[in-house]
Amino acid sequence: MRILLLTHAFNSLTQRLSAELQQRGHQTSIEFDIADSVTEEAVALFAPDLIVAPYLRRAIPESVWSRIVCLIVHPGVVGDRGPSALDWAIQNHETQWAVTVLQAQAEMDAGPVWASVSFPMRPGRKSGLYRHEVAKAASQAVLQALQRFESGSFVPQPLTTLPTRRGQWRPPMTQQQRCLDWQRDSSATILNKLYAADGFPGVADNLFGQPCQLFDAWSDATLRGTPGSLIARRETALLRATVDGAIWIGHVKRAGSIKLPSTLAFEREAAQLPDRPLHDWWQCKTPTWQDIAYEEQGSLGFLSFEFYNGAMSTRQCDRLRTALHWAKQRPTRVLLLMGGSDFWSNGIHLNVIEAASLNGGSAADESWRNINAINDLALELINTEQQITVAALGANAGAGGCFLARACDLVWARESVLLNPHYKNMGNLYGSEYWTYLLPRRVGMEAAQAIMRDRQPMTAQRGLQTGFIDACLDGELPVFRAEVAERAAALAAGSDLAQRLATKRESRQRDETVKPLAVYREEELTQMRRNFYGFDPSYHIARHHFVHKSPASWTPRHLARHRDLGWGLS
Ligand code: COA
Repeated sequence: MRILLLTHAFNSLTQRLSAELQQRGHQTSIEFDIADSVTEEAVALFAPDLIVAPYLRRAIPESVWSRIVCLIVHPGVVGDRGPSALDWAIQNHETQWAVTVLQAQAEMDAGPVWASVSFPMRPGRKSGLYRHEVAKAASQAVLQALQRFESGSFVPQPLTTLPTRRGQWRPPMTQQQRCLDWQRDSSATILNKLYAADGFPGVADNLFGQPCQLFDAWSDATLRGTPGSLIARRETALLRATVDGAIWIGHVKRAGSIKLPSTLAFEREAAQLPDRPLHDWWQCKTPTWQDIAYEEQGSLGFLSFEFYNGAMSTRQCDRLRTALHWAKQRPTRVLLLMGGSDFWSNGIHLNVIEAASLNGGSAADESWRNINAINDLALELINTEQQITVAALGANAGAGGCFLARACDLVWARESVLLNPHYKNMGNLYGSEYWTYLLPRRVGMEAAQAIMRDRQPMTAQRGLQTGFIDACLDGELPVFRAEVAERAAALAAGSDLAQRLATKRESRQRDETVKPLAVYREEELTQMRRNFYGFDPSYHIARHHFVHKSPASWTPRHLARHRDLGWGLS
């Protein structure tokens, strides 16, 4: 079928659906929901059999839904309506939730139902639930709806004929309904409200007497203080006392600014608070704010890095490199790089870079520092001689994050993981992280050029087919982690381990003789210097729009394939 994906943005869910539909042989094209006339034009050009809308903020025009079946993906149970579906589900402590695919009609979210897939809720951030549970249920529901549509005999069920149970219209959640009372609310209540707003819009509050929105909350099991007072800082986070405990706030968005690590957004004020570094980070077991963690199971070392949004600032790269260097001295045989629960890594920290220019500094200089710090980290990984390194991708990776993973000997990914191993979407950025060494040796020169040029997301299955990853494993996150540990244990116990390590050292030495890593790095950085300091400001402009979340004013040509000459007109 020809399927047009109509969406507010090419977010992870849209990327996943697009990749999965293509994998099943459908012709897909994408149009951003910019204006009714643009949607109408896209429909005229592409002549789709069906429109799927994974992520919309406005209604589809009647001129379109009255002629073509439009399937809306709604993150709610049957009968649930309104734009804050997940927010309400979290705040109301729902234990079971769903994604429903319904047909667009005049009334928002009220059309007949094509499919609905439920999932168990867990305590956690809205953004994490969206990227894992919702994305999975959405792709299952859309595929089911497509099958039903293709069968030609399925009649979608009007809402009035279905048992809607908990489903009802729920208004947009206001900041008043999210409001935190630090003098009365328990830590659990505050955490729940912050979880329900994470990603967007955050919870409006005050820190140091300044209005801001709060994100990225973690509870602390031991530290205490006067309810409402800020009592400590640690790396990016600030700790605020509640009536029965304390909550770390990792990120804030100050009025008129962008979302930033809290200690950077309030740099001067935070410096006055007592610093509470986590000295025993490699063996800490009590709940607290901890972005880098380590665990050992026999001959396996697991290094996790829970960096918000997968973005890695200069300091985070430096700290992770130090942790990695330490982990390499441990008597382990396999070292697993676990990433974070929502992202494995998305490369350099574009918001922190942008903040450098907001503070009167140089975004180019901070970009330069950050890319060098992530390169140093990649180098530390490539030069691991005593252990086999494995990147275990339980969550998505993008741009430099993909090549950081590829700097490991093996990359094992969960089947639902999406990879974006390319840079050009960020203002034609050339990219570094030794990709010019790491990518062609895995997929070949021609495929490497195509991956970089086409800028398409890659499913884990596709990654395996191309050779970009080494294994694609099924299952939810805990099952994936258990299987990763099992495979790694087998690797560590293998009689060929010493031989494997010797072969790895020899092949590295051979590659180094042919062309030293320093030369790859210098060549990449020559291009990056142009991106950061050259006369073409595309990277700075693209980064600015990305971090300020500027609304798109057109669909990029590599996505809107129907806008290529000849497409859709035959
Ligand atoms: N630096 C800072 N923030 C980043 C980031 C980065 N490198 N990558 C992602 N984010 C943030 C987004 O701004 C968004 O923030 P929000 O919490 O305020 O909404 C959040 O992470 C999720 O990103 P989103 O784009 O919604 O996720 P996605 O899964 O739909 O898309 C990517 C994933 C990787 C395709 C997309 O985020 C991206 O292109 N990131 C930039 C990658 C990059 O160019 N890195 C620099 C070169 S190494």
